[in-house]
Parts: sequence; structure tokens; C-alpha cells
Amino acid sequence: MRPPVSLVDGKPRGSLDVADRGLLYGDGLFETIRVENGCPCLWAAHMARLGLGAERLGMPAPDVVLLRSEADRLSAEAGDGDGVLRITLTRGVGQRGYRPPSPCLPTRIVTLYPGSGRSDRRVSERDGVRLTVCRMQLAEQPRLAGIKHLNRLEQVLARAEWDDPEIVDGIMTDSSGRAVCGTMSNFFVLDDSGLRTPRVDRCGVAGTVRALVMARAPSLGLPVREADMGLEELTQARALFITNALLGVLPAAALDARRYDPREIPRELIEAVRQAALQSESET
Ligand SMILES: Cc1ncc(COP(=O)(O)O)c(C=O)c1O
Repeated sequence: MRPPVSLVDGKPRGSLDVADRGLLYGDGLFETIRVENGCPCLWAAHMARLGLGAERLGMPAPDVVLLRSEADRLSAEAGDGDGVLRITLTRGVGQRGYRPPSPCLPTRIVTLYPGSGRSDRRVSERDGVRLTVCRMQLAEQPRLAGIKHLNRLEQVLARAEWDDPEIVDGIMTDSSGRAVCGTMSNFFVLDDSGLRTPRVDRCGVAGTVRALVMARAPSLGLPVREADMGLEELTQARALFITNALLGVLPAAALDARRYDPREIPRELIEAVRQAALQSESET
């Protein structure tokens, strides 16, 4: 496997200032993007979420054209293959203390991790994946809900709860016991009335693939509703699947002791989302 390659503010092998607020306070945003044949999938959706995050945090709007040129440069250097692109945008360097610097000069880190997850993903799409329920809960903070900010300690602590490599993700609840998302994914339940997915307006991340499923599923005869749900609704559902930019749509085979039939998730949905993600690769 080839090592990752990075640009910090456009410089190869650049380094980070010890006073960078991304490091000191998690003051910034990130995106994790699937790259296929050198092209970043769902580029426009990732950039829209980054832009929304910058607006919410009061940071300058990201230079999307510059980010794309840096992503393309790293992809070309790596041979235009498959990989994972991580874009991190911090509020940059400031004085000691929380007060945001003015003016603010954001730090840009673009990293490409070469390597393909395609064959593993195909197996997981067919056989389904195992999930668990996490004890760690999400705090509710509407001002930060939906965006992909750098404060991820809740997910770090949740992910520390299991070692079993067979378990792909853990479902997290909020402090009122509503199931919200996976540590690194969104989820949908399927029953006779169609698909339901939790709202992400109190906590959670508004996933790019979540939005794609919501847009595509109705045309496949699967209406989608956003709804509050408890864990018992996940266990009572006919089927369950998780979504994220790297994994696409992955049916659950199990949520702890509850087993599901992964074939309940229509293949057309998995395929439609995969195709849509690939077709949107060149949008800016
Ligand atoms: C906490 C969390 N929720 C949801 C998602 C899914 O978002 P996306 O579909 O854009 O990958 C992620 C992705 O990493 C995540 O970390």
C-alpha cells in the first residue's frame, strides 16, 4: 500500500504551526471523500457541507477551486487510482485563548490515502455488516448539528467501545435515548411504509450519502421520512442499512443479537447510489 501524501497550504510535506487552532481547540472542519480512478466522488456535496460548516463557524468560505486543484494534483501524483481524500480546514493560527483571530487565515490540509476498498465493499454490500449499540451518547447542540466539525471526541470514545474487527460501526443515541447515527455513518430503517432516518438537527452529521439516498429512494418506490426513533425501532424494523461516503450503502446483517437479512435492502438502491456518487465526481 502506498503511503499517504499531503499538502499543507499547498506545500508538499508542509508542517502545522503548534498554535494552529485546529490542533488546540478542534476549531475547524473536515471532509472525507472517496476517490475512484482519480476523481473525488460527490465533490459538490462535500464542498457544500464544508461551505455550510464555514458559515456556521464564522470562517471564510473555502476556496473550492483551489481545493479541487490540490486534490487533483495529489491524485495525479498517485497515479489517478482509487483512494481516500481528507480535506481539513482549520481557523488557522491565533493568539493564546479561545477568541477567534481577526482576520482569520485558515489552514488547509489536503491528504490522499491511496488504495481501493472496492472489493471489500462489494462483499459487505452482499453479506451485510455487523453493528453494535454504543454506550457513549451524543450531546445535543443545534448550532453544530449537521456539519462536519473537527470535534469528534464523542465518536472517538464510542469507537473505543469495541475491538471486534467484524463490527463495522456502532449506533449512537443522544442524551434523550433517540438513535441518531453511527460513529462514522448515518442509518436508515426499512419497513412496510418505506425508509426512515433520524433528523440531524440536534446532533449528528448530515451525510452526503444520506442526502443521496433521500433523493433517489422515492423513485425506486421507497418513500423516505425523517423521524425520531428509539433503539427498539431499529430492532423491530425489517431491515437496516448504514451510509457513508467511503462505504456507500451497506445493509446490516446484525445489530448486536438482532439479525437482519441483508437481501431485504433493494440492490437497485445500492446500485443507484453507487452510480450517482460516481456520476457526480466531476461536479464542482
Ligand atoms: C459522525 C458521522 N456521521 C455521518 C457520516 C456520514 O457522512 P458522509 O455520508 O458524508 O460520509 C460520517 C462520515 O464520516 C460521520 O463521521
